[in-house]
Amino acid sequence: MHRMSLVGKRDKSLKTINQDVIDQIHEDAVFIDWYEAFEGKAYGNQHLSRVVTIAKFLAEKEGASREICEAGAWLHDIGLKAGNDNDPAKIRAIAEEYLSHLPLDNESKSRIADCVETHEGAREAVSLEAKIVHDADVLDKMALLGVIRHTWKIVNLINPDAHPAEVFSTLQKHLKERRERLYTTTAKKLLSVLNESLAQFFEDKTQAIETLRMIMKLARAARTSDEIARELLLKKDHQILVDQLCIADPSMADHILQAWYAQGEMLEERESAFAGSA
Ligand SMILES: [Fe+2]
Ligand SMILES: [Fe+2]
Repeated sequence: MHRMSLVGKRDKSLKTINQDVIDQIHEDAVFIDWYEAFEGKAYGNQHLSRVVTIAKFLAEKEGASREICEAGAWLHDIGLKAGNDNDPAKIRAIAEEYLSHLPLDNESKSRIADCVETHEGAREAVSLEAKIVHDADVLDKMALLGVIRHTWKIVNLINPDAHPAEVFSTLQKHLKERRERLYTTTAKKLLSVLNESLAQFFEDKTQAIETLRMIMKLARAARTSDEIARELLLKKDHQILVDQLCIADPSMADHILQAWYAQGEMLEERESAFAGSA
């Protein structure tokens, strides 16, 4: 499919970022995510929608540009169309090439490319908007949904022959590394809720490996990570996972994120009171 060739025919006059350009980036990014990344194996996944919603929530709380965060969040995984997205320079170049066809001023293009370049954490994010897109992507990789998403990536990209026990250790290390590098205080508040549920998952190793075995089996059977999440919910109720999936629904997202935020504040207060009395 050569849908991207249409991009070059657009109006070339340069404008600051507006909703029309964001809508175009949204449409193109979802197309790439569903049809080109992972050879179309992630068709229908709502990861981008969730990251955008979380990024907009963080932008409001942190006083960042909502437009740059939204555009950066839609585009952050564009590097996956070329395979892996762990090389910051390579994914920046892919983002810049895409953005060069848009009727957008150079400063906005560069600020959006900044968000793409550092989202995986392999290079330090500098702008507040790049920090927010990084944090929003990390938050979608936490709790049980994060376990499913990274296991899916291991099976489909990193190490297809991995054993569930091996994945258990890799996951623990990877998710710990990513959550330790969160930048914004708002994301840290949301994380404390997701963290509690992740800790519970790793606590029972036998049960966790059993769940991983099932996730890997479904990932090998060409199911997307969102489908695997829904499949797990048929077997066992898991409120945080339900909430995580519902973040893709704009009518529910704000309520869920505000609730996590309030709960995160409570957990932080409890922790600092505990530290004070110790
Ligand atoms: Fe990524
Ligand atoms: Fe992502």
